[in-house]
Formats: sequence, C-alpha cells, structure tokens
Amino acid sequence: MPTIMETNPPPTRHKDLLSWVEDVRALCQPDKVVWCDGSQEEDRRLRQLMVDSGSAIRLDEKKRPNSLLVRSDPRDVARVERRTFICSRSKDDAGPTNNWEDPAAMKQKMAGLYRGCMRGRTMYVIPFSMGPVGSKIARIGVEITDSPYVVVNMRIMTRIGQRVLDVLGADGFYVKCLHSVGYPLDGRPDVAWPCDPDNTFITHFPEERLIMSYGSGYGGNALLGKKCLALRIASVIGRDEGWMAEHMLILGLETPDGKKSYVTAAFPSACGKTNFAMLVPPKALDSCKVTTVGDDIAWIQPGPDGKPRAINPEAGWFGVAPGTSCKTNPNAMESCRRDSIFTNCALTDDGDVWWEGMTDEPPEHLVSWLGEDWTPGCGKPSSHPNARFTAPAGNCPCIDPEWENPDGVPIDAFIFGGRRMSDIPLVFETRDWNHGTFVGATLSSEQTAAAEGQVGALRRDPMAMLPFCGYHIGDYFRHWIDMGAKFGAHKPRIFHVNWFRKDRNGKFMWPGFGENLRVLLWIVGRCRGNAGGTDSPLGTVPRHGDLHWEGLAFPETRFAELMSEDRERLAEQVHSNDDFFNGMGDRFPSELKAEEETILRKLTGAP
Ligand code: OXD
Ligand code: MN
Repeated sequence: MPTIMETNPPPTRHKDLLSWVEDVRALCQPDKVVWCDGSQEEDRRLRQLMVDSGSAIRLDEKKRPNSLLVRSDPRDVARVERRTFICSRSKDDAGPTNNWEDPAAMKQKMAGLYRGCMRGRTMYVIPFSMGPVGSKIARIGVEITDSPYVVVNMRIMTRIGQRVLDVLGADGFYVKCLHSVGYPLDGRPDVAWPCDPDNTFITHFPEERLIMSYGSGYGGNALLGKKCLALRIASVIGRDEGWMAEHMLILGLETPDGKKSYVTAAFPSACGKTNFAMLVPPKALDSCKVTTVGDDIAWIQPGPDGKPRAINPEAGWFGVAPGTSCKTNPNAMESCRRDSIFTNCALTDDGDVWWEGMTDEPPEHLVSWLGEDWTPGCGKPSSHPNARFTAPAGNCPCIDPEWENPDGVPIDAFIFGGRRMSDIPLVFETRDWNHGTFVGATLSSEQTAAAEGQVGALRRDPMAMLPFCGYHIGDYFRHWIDMGAKFGAHKPRIFHVNWFRKDRNGKFMWPGFGENLRVLLWIVGRCRGNAGGTDSPLGTVPRHGDLHWEGLAFPETRFAELMSEDRERLAEQVHSNDDFFNGMGDRFPSELKAEEETILRKLTGAP
C-alpha cells in the first residue's frame, strides 16, 4: 500500500529521528504518517475526526466548552502493572519491585506485535517536551502513535509540536516512545475504542531510554510522557545525571507576611494528592494562599547554589474524576470546566458529564460509562471508579505564577504521606535527610475497599514509587542518600503526614481537606525556623500550641490522641521490612540499615 507522507518534507532535519520514524513506518505499515505541529487547527481537526468516527462525544458547548467525552473498552480502564516491564540488560538492575524481560527477547516480541499493527490507520508523530520548552531541566520525547485520542491528550498533558522540534535541532537527544493500540484495520471496521487487552505490554529499555507500548489506549499505558518517561525512564536519567524524578506534587504556600515557600509531597494512590496540591484554606486562615505547580510528578535538580529546584514536567492534570466536587476540590472542578477530555464518565441528558460524588443528588437519568441507561437506584456506578478528566493546568485558578519557570521553584521540604488509620500521628518531622530517606523507603499505606486485597493491610510503596522506579529500588535508595550530600546545607527537610487516623469508634479524627493547611503551616514554619516542636522517637512533633487553631475547635486531649504513637506496632512494622531490605543484599544502603537500628532503639527505649 502506498504511503502518503502528509507533511512533506518532514518538519525536521534530525537524521536519527527521521530514520526511526521511517523504521517504525516500515514495521507498522500505516496508511499515512502525520507529523503533529501542535496547532489549535490540528487539535480541532483531530477532535472532529474522533466525533465523526464515533469514538468521542462532543459535550454541550455552553455547559462544557471545547470538551469531549470518550468511553473506553471496559477491558482497558487502568494501568496494567503486571504487563509493565523494565528490560534492563541485567535482570539484577531491574530489582525486586519490577517485572523484567531480556531486552532482545522483549524487542523481538514487540516487533512481532507491531508488524502491520497500524494498517488502515494514520501514524502520528508527536514531538513533546516534558517541562517548559527549552528549559534546561526539561527533556524531549517523541511519541509515535496510531491513536488520535493519545494526540489530543498529549497536547493537554505535555507541550507538543513544531516548537519542540525547533529546540531538538538536528542532533538533540530525545526519548523514543512507540505506541500502538494494537488494532489493525485489515479489512475490518474500526471500533470506538480499539485495543488488544490480551497482548498489552508496556515496556521500558532504560539503557537506551526507549519505551514501547502496545495494546492499550488508556492513560499511563498510552500517554507515554507521564509514568513511562517522566518517572520510569527519567528516574534512570536522574540517577545517571545526579537529579531526581519523583512521584510528587509541588505546591506553594504564601503566608500573610508575604513570604512564599514551596514543598513537594509523595502519597500513594487514593490518599488525596490532587486535593492537597490544590488546597483551599479554611475561612479563618484565608490570608494564606496555596498555589499549585504540579499534582503528580516533580523533577528536582540542585540549582547553581545547591538548593533543590523543581519543575512539573507535565502541562495538565490527568485526574481521577469520581469523588472530585466543588466541595472536595473546586480548583480541579474549575480546571476541567472547559477544554477538557473526559474518559469513562457518565453523560447527562443535557450534554454534560457527571460522576459519583460530583453533587450530593445524582441526576435522574444518565448514560453510564458503559453507554447504558442509568438511574440512581440501578445499583451500578455511572462512571468507572478510575474515570478521568484531562485538563490544562493553565485553567486551574490556583496555578502558581512560577509554574512554567524554566529554572523551577526552590523546594524547602519533602512530605511523605500514607493512609494510616491506627498508628501514625498527624505529622512528624524526621531528624535529618537519611532518617527521612528511611521513612520514605518504608512508606506504606493501608488498603481501602477500592482495591483488591485485605482491607486495612499495609501495602509497601517506597517513596510512592513502587510501580514507577525504572531501576533497582536499592540503588534508588542509594541515589537518595547521595542526593542529600549533593544538596548539602540546602537539603529539604523531610516530613511525614497522615490525614487518615481513626479513633476507637472508627471515626476519622482529623477533618482533612482545607484544614490540612494547619499542618502545612507548621511544616513551612519549621523550615523557616519559627515553629516549635518536641522530640519523639519518630522525630520532632508539634505540641497543641505549635499549630494554628483559628476557626477550628480541636481540644488538646483529642490532639494528644491524634498525635499518640503505638510504639510496639511501629517497631513491628519496621521489622516487617526486614525481608524486603535483606533481599537487596549489598544494594541496600548501610546508611538506611543504621537508621533502622536507631529508630528501633528509640521506639523500644533501648539505650
Ligand atoms: C496516577 C497514578 O494515575 O499514580 O497518577 O496511578
Ligand atoms: Mn500518580
């Protein structure tokens, strides 16, 4: 079949890129190749194509301007960790937390899947920048995909198009990202959401900085700039180049004295990361202002003076829709009020979207994410629990004015958090960098009913990076220790928070949401040297009088309960990491072993 090069000549002189695109074209055999320029006109054309082909529904222009609803195949609704592989040359380098396959064997398998996989389709070439275009901290990728859905989402989540090729020049470095939905049109009609769930593979070749994904059109499996590049591959680049790619939000806090501080925070899933990133201060403290730089990923490098500086490599939010409302997160609601793409949400009769938790009262009738009629009593959710909105960060009312600063923002503190119902206080400050690294390495969160497994069981998720670290987790801990030395006197202070503690009656003790500002104020106060605290085996903890309580009645006795430590349980939990850590042999840093001994001594009161 003849190939039509729509853009002729291709808009780059980059020889390696041209030859890679030609190799992929020859392998995947698309009908057409289109180089994406990132223009509004191109976006308009692709959205129209999706609507015309029946793969997207245009939402009501007044209610939700410039927005689409897409329904996925019900078998393709989330990241697939069991099909995600780190194909380093040596199995050992992938470590105990990753699936591994030999790179040559995996490439052969993928080539078999890719052969002819784009027949009847258009192959899009998307040059994209993770981070502001031209920033020294940013990195360039090129995604080749046969999915227009991926193109329109990548245009929101990253910076795409000609301006990226201009920065790349004739020989700049880029990460190769190859994606196909895996549904060639060999004489068969297309479907609304093409995919190949039985053959889905998300594969990473860290030494080559190469990503190959096949069979899924969904989120982190298909928008390869996000988890695949900005975390798995970037964590390897960061290790090699002396910086950090972390699964962290970035926020700014401005206090009434006009001072501004930035912090990052790593929470496992289902712990309210996006809500914390866009926190709305309670009324009594609304002279404080929280601004958002990022809600999911931070790239952190030492600045010229050693002070860590962070950018958000993304340009949009790929947020979980259910549970998001004007009460829980008005800033996220405003972000997706227009120019957004909704995936697996329900459709209202007047052409808008709805999801569980958006309003107290559900609409009387909806079309569910499965395309079925839905009424409030029907016993099924109207939206998939992992339904998403893709929204431009620039739409967010609390976006930080510095969010596109190519040099990043200066970071004063790292915060770890988990869902810990019974044993960890609201907040503590670790003693120093290595202790903080140990707390990150042992980060765990209790399972909720939302996931498979035993409710309440602790799931280990080091630095919230369990599915996202592109190399051996022991080497990653070593890299953290080394980065502390690199930041020197400018090392961020490291804290742990827990919004989820319950009392004896099973009631959450802490109101959470906007009230979390009180904890954030203490954290920033510690960094500025103007917030008090007292020693505990866990580090430094606030006394009742060390927090701001304006507008919230929270008695001292209740606070003491919220801050209490179950030392015996905590010591048990420290021991529960033994097998995991010992299994790493020499790759487990001795500094962390020493931290473990110190914390056990403190918890058990041994001299
Ligand atoms: C996400 C995730 O989607 O962490 O951000 O899974
Ligand atoms: Mn995430």
